[in-house]
Amino acid sequence: MSTTTDTTPYDGPPDYRLVGEHGMFPKTSHDEKARFNFLAHLNRHLASRVLPGVKTAYETRVEPGLEPKSRHDVRRALTKDPLFQHWSAHRRNTMELRQQAGRWVTLRQADEMNSRARELTEGDPRLQLDPTLELPNYLARIDHHCMPGSYHDELVPGDVTGAANYDCGIFVTTGGGLGRFNDGGGHAVVAWMKKNRPDFAPKRILDIGGGLGQNVLPIAQAYPDAEVVCVDTGAPVLRYGLARAKLMGVDNVRFVQANAEDLSMFEDGYFDWVQSTMFLHETSVKAMPRIMAESHRVLAPGGIVLHVEQPQYSSDMPLYEQAIRDWDAFYNNEPFWTKLHELDLDQWMIEAGFAEEELIHGGVAAVVDAELFPEHANDDVEDYGRKAAWHITGGQKAA
Ligand SMILES: C[S@@+](CC[C@H](N)C(=O)[O-])C[C@H]1O[C@@H](n2cnc3c(N)ncnc32)[C@H](O)[C@@H]1O
Repeated sequence: MSTTTDTTPYDGPPDYRLVGEHGMFPKTSHDEKARFNFLAHLNRHLASRVLPGVKTAYETRVEPGLEPKSRHDVRRALTKDPLFQHWSAHRRNTMELRQQAGRWVTLRQADEMNSRARELTEGDPRLQLDPTLELPNYLARIDHHCMPGSYHDELVPGDVTGAANYDCGIFVTTGGGLGRFNDGGGHAVVAWMKKNRPDFAPKRILDIGGGLGQNVLPIAQAYPDAEVVCVDTGAPVLRYGLARAKLMGVDNVRFVQANAEDLSMFEDGYFDWVQSTMFLHETSVKAMPRIMAESHRVLAPGGIVLHVEQPQYSSDMPLYEQAIRDWDAFYNNEPFWTKLHELDLDQWMIEAGFAEEELIHGGVAAVVDAELFPEHANDDVEDYGRKAAWHITGGQKAA
């Protein structure tokens, strides 16, 4: 069960100095970079060296005689195993430490970053905030993935530090797997669309739960004549997102504060493409039908909806893998993660108005700068939930 006898060469994550430092990106000192590097390496160590041991522990001393009926039986049994406890506690700590490391980075330069964002966004019609917007409980009550204040809290009016923390820390959790600008998901979606719908020329694109637009900008760049709207509930991410987009030279994105359950500010059939990336798992069972229905309503005839998420649990996914994938729900403040991944998304799409023959299925993996991040370098390091490879559940409305 020891993890120290493994002699395979250690393939570490890319150096933090490779991260894409756009004009809004928080400045990091030598020591802060070193701390982020330490955490990225610790994550990689846990995934590549410790987690395989957890699997062996499961197979040799947990599973015999267990007869699990569901992933929950497996998870409950695993919680009694010392190696699972060791891996899980460290993984939780890497999340806590990443958030606190990012906080130190961003809070010490909060005034400077907040005024830079204010200068870049104040009076710009592409930032549309709604201070009266009520946050649903599934957002208001949770600090997602241990992120203090989640995507919405403001420490002072006009605050962007939470968004900056997310931006500078995600490289650590993903070990650079999303690329320099953490936008490998957006590039992957563009590549999917260009390959599978080469003649699709959307005039209006909506990204729901688009956050600070990391994965929205590649779409906006690939379709420069399109009007792109990034909707999110969090004012700090939207404010930071517009400032970031401007400094990265992308000018066709509007950042709108709204709840994706109610997109009544957009008329029926307004958008040719409705996109969501790693968004659905942060909502709720109650919100899902509303989000799906609104996405269908605002879609033009011939338009396409694509939801990109971590893989659904299916009957052919081993219960052990499902249980490990469920870790985020129980130890990383992602309560809807477990339920979402067992739902029949096709059924939700059909209930929202798509015919079965209009449904789209696919898979995408992050597209990253191959010179800096050798393609598929991490393919053998499966971290059950963090790997930059996702499923697409979508639909195309009849023209
Ligand atoms: C995990 S982040 C993903 C952000 C982005 N799509 C990306 O790929 O980087 C989920 C985002 O969804 C937003 N969100 C959650 N529920 C929402 C809702 N009902 N309406 C709009 N945004 C929502 C959160 O504020 C957060 O920014």
